[in-house]
Amino acid sequence: MRPNIISANFLTDNPAIYEQRFPDPEHVAARFVDDLVNRFGAGRELLDVGCGTGRDARYWAGRGYRVTGLDCSPQMVAYAEERCPAANFVVADMRSFRLPGAFDVVTCLDSAFLYCHTNDELDAFLQRCHDHLRTGGLLIAEMRNGAFFLGNTELLDGVQDQAVVWDGVEYRSRTRLWIDHANQLLRRERRWDWPGRDEPLPQHSAWRLLFPQELRHFADRHGFEVVAMFDEPGPRAETPWHRDAALSTRLSGDRLHLVLRRNG
Ligand SMILES: C[S@@+](CC[C@H](N)C(=O)[O-])C[C@H]1O[C@@H](n2cnc3c(N)ncnc32)[C@H](O)[C@@H]1O
Repeated sequence: MRPNIISANFLTDNPAIYEQRFPDPEHVAARFVDDLVNRFGAGRELLDVGCGTGRDARYWAGRGYRVTGLDCSPQMVAYAEERCPAANFVVADMRSFRLPGAFDVVTCLDSAFLYCHTNDELDAFLQRCHDHLRTGGLLIAEMRNGAFFLGNTELLDGVQDQAVVWDGVEYRSRTRLWIDHANQLLRRERRWDWPGRDEPLPQHSAWRLLFPQELRHFADRHGFEVVAMFDEPGPRAETPWHRDAALSTRLSGDRLHLVLRRNG
């Protein structure tokens, strides 16, 4: 099968290649959420914002959650629907979605939160989460940590070459990251190349760099209590996630994990 290249994002528009590039065979991300729901207490009606391929939805649905997945990529949603018939999926934007019903848990994993680049976009997303959560419900997010970049530059040095093989074809990528200080964004240029292409396919992404105090402010402003904010351990953190882990509040690691509870 040929990849979809008329795309805003090569990986999210080619879900099978996405899963191959970022495998999670042990379902660590989904288990992390389940463990936090058990630790902090919430019901089992779950909305996953930026659900991607639906692999987390499939894990949760298999453990008694009623799951809705939301993503702005029609390719991701189509793939998720096929792979996880036990959940509902919708194509929608995290900054403007309106769904019927209410949820006990909203998740936003692997830095999807940081696609809200401006304060207005963050306000809009947190308002959407607040409106879709029951009182006492949890918003669980896992993302890059803006504070990590205060003093750490290793992620920004040089270019990174990687490759993923899918359907017998090797897709090579060359990635460069840099900080756009004025807009408080981590920007990425990734050039994809594979046999038969005349020139590399350039892709651009950006993530908001959010700092702990800023997150507390946004949470408070939108009627959320900060139940937990930690850097280690986590599903994509240096220290692997485990269920009964003590949560580190140093917040100097490269991942940030956030558990917010909707106040009354
Ligand atoms: C890094 S992927 C994470 C996928 C999945 N949560 C996981 O952990 O494997 C981010 C996802 O967010 C989606 N996304 C990006 N911007 C979005 C937006 N404004 N509204 C909804 N989804 C968005 C992308 O299409 C992509 O599937």
